[in-house]
Amino acid sequence: MNQDLAFVTGTSRGIGHAVAVELLARGVEVVGVSRDEPADLGAGYRHYRCDLADLDAVARVFDEVIPSEVSLEGRRRVGLVNNAAVLDCRTVAASDLDGLERAFRINAVVPIWLHGWLLRRTARDQQVRIVDVSSGAAQSAIPGWSAYCATKAALRMAGAVLGAELDEVGDLAGRDLSIVSYAPGVVATDMQARIRGAELTAFPRRARFDALHAERQLLDPEVPAAEIAALLRNDTPRGFSERRVGASSGA
Ligand SMILES: NC(=O)c1ccc[n+]([C@@H]2O[C@H](COP(=O)([O-])OP(=O)(O)OC[C@H]3O[C@@H](n4cnc5c(N)ncnc54)[C@H](OP(=O)(O)O)[C@@H]3O)[C@@H](O)[C@H]2O)c1
Repeated sequence: MNQDLAFVTGTSRGIGHAVAVELLARGVEVVGVSRDEPADLGAGYRHYRCDLADLDAVARVFDEVIPSEVSLEGRRRVGLVNNAAVLDCRTVAASDLDGLERAFRINAVVPIWLHGWLLRRTARDQQVRIVDVSSGAAQSAIPGWSAYCATKAALRMAGAVLGAELDEVGDLAGRDLSIVSYAPGVVATDMQARIRGAELTAFPRRARFDALHAERQLLDPEVPAAEIAALLRNDTPRGFSERRVGASSGA
């Protein structure tokens, strides 16, 4: 077997769904994970329903169910797109424990754990391609987005640490692994619709996003999806790097 395979989180809609469509069109087998199951992806696609905020369910699906049903043996290249994320607009003064914990589990804890999961599941001679879907919010302080900014910053740094470990952890010497923190731009998805629906008291910069929408400036999900798919297949440089939509390199 030599067919490439990629794990993609958040395939039920938005950018993750478009990534699955793009990868399948390129002949990559896709294993998708989200709570809802997309109905339209057809041959080459396999779905696992899982709430990524439920750590017991995550362990069951990734450590028991998927290993028993999805073989990675003989695959030339295995990809991971950490795409699923949540964004709830809430000022620091209004932040709540449950919401913070949920955002950290979905946006940071599980994606970071999946880096290690994929390392453990793949063999030394397999190419590993990881794309963490990031955001400008990983590096900019945006009022109302403290959980989102903090979780995206955490995931970005964890990717950079994995890149550093590639050079300094003996077991990883020689492994063909790239990890890209990729910022997709402002994309027409449910996440953007929720941002435009936020109260101004919770998200004071909402007017900017209303204007982008009114001026039809949002990207279609297919645009970042094509770039993410290319990052999984191309000779992406070994180690950690950053990209943003429309740019060949750089953050
Ligand atoms: N849209 C933008 O403008 C924009 C900009 C910068 C970065 N991003 C990033 O791009 C990525 C995709 O965003 P999007 O705009 O496509 O978002 P979206 O339309 O809201 O879709 C989010 C996806 O994540 C999944 N998800 C959410 N909570 C989950 C949970 N608890 N368990 C499992 N899956 C869950 C959803 O599936 P279920 O609901 O079926 O579980 C859905 O498939 C995110 O990392 C986001 O931060 C987006």
